[in-house]
Amino acid sequence: MHIGVLGTGTVGRTLSQALVDRGHEVRMGARSAGNETAVAWAEQSGPLASEGSFADAVAFGDMAFNATAGAHSLEALEMAGAEQLAGKLLVDVSNPLDFSQGMPPTLTVCNDDSLAEQLQRAFPEARVVKALNTVTAAVMVEPDLVPGAHTIFVCGDDAEAKAQTARLLEEFGWPPGSILDLGDITAARGMEMYLPLWLRLWGATGTPVLNVDVRVAAADG
Ligand SMILES: NC(=O)c1ccc[n+]([C@@H]2O[C@H](COP(=O)([O-])OP(=O)(O)OC[C@H]3O[C@@H](n4cnc5c(N)ncnc54)[C@H](OP(=O)(O)O)[C@@H]3O)[C@@H](O)[C@H]2O)c1
Repeated sequence: MHIGVLGTGTVGRTLSQALVDRGHEVRMGARSAGNETAVAWAEQSGPLASEGSFADAVAFGDMAFNATAGAHSLEALEMAGAEQLAGKLLVDVSNPLDFSQGMPPTLTVCNDDSLAEQLQRAFPEARVVKALNTVTAAVMVEPDLVPGAHTIFVCGDDAEAKAQTARLLEEFGWPPGSILDLGDITAARGMEMYLPLWLRLWGATGTPVLNVDVRVAAADG
């Protein structure tokens, strides 16, 4: 596939490299084409890798990942352009974290709304799927870093977009049984509000390489 990855941070670089390693053509996007980090990544990653602006990355991709700072994701996607996003799968891995008052961060949106819903409302023709925001970047593309069975959540309004996302997650090594579809895009509220707990789990365990496993009781009869 041709995939646009919006974001030059740890997540953008980790996803971009994992996708190139699996044979996809990836364009990493930043606020401006020629971003130093994106250029360095493209140069070291070979012919399947390229870089450009957010708009270049979305135009290049059959689909795109949003791996931008959550407090600025709406601006980043506005720079990408609504027409470019129309009809495309947009996998939103961002978290709406506000670090302006120091640590721990607060959420820029919560309770009765979420960043993923804001993105879906702003770009109604994009097919937004929330996924991967509940694990650290390395675990997104190498779930075996966490031993044993553990769960990755997806949600969104478009069933085919979620199925396409699940196929990509399987390429990253997530077994089909570990992918839990939480329903429509409003489920992103819980996925994003999990972040304060995730940060405390990191503090309590001393490592971000962690995840939760959802287990259910066997059905009666
Ligand atoms: N780090 C993790 O392990 C992890 C795990 C799960 C989810 N997440 C989420 O994934 C997203 C990416 O995280 P990250 O740590 O890789 O990087 P980050 O530092 O949160 O975000 C970097 C990206 O945000 C863009 N950006 C920053 N300010 C902007 C603005 N004012 N307008 C438009 N774009 C702006 C940057 O653009 P330029 O390239 O132009 O500088 C860059 O591409 C975040 O939402 C984060 O919460 C992170």
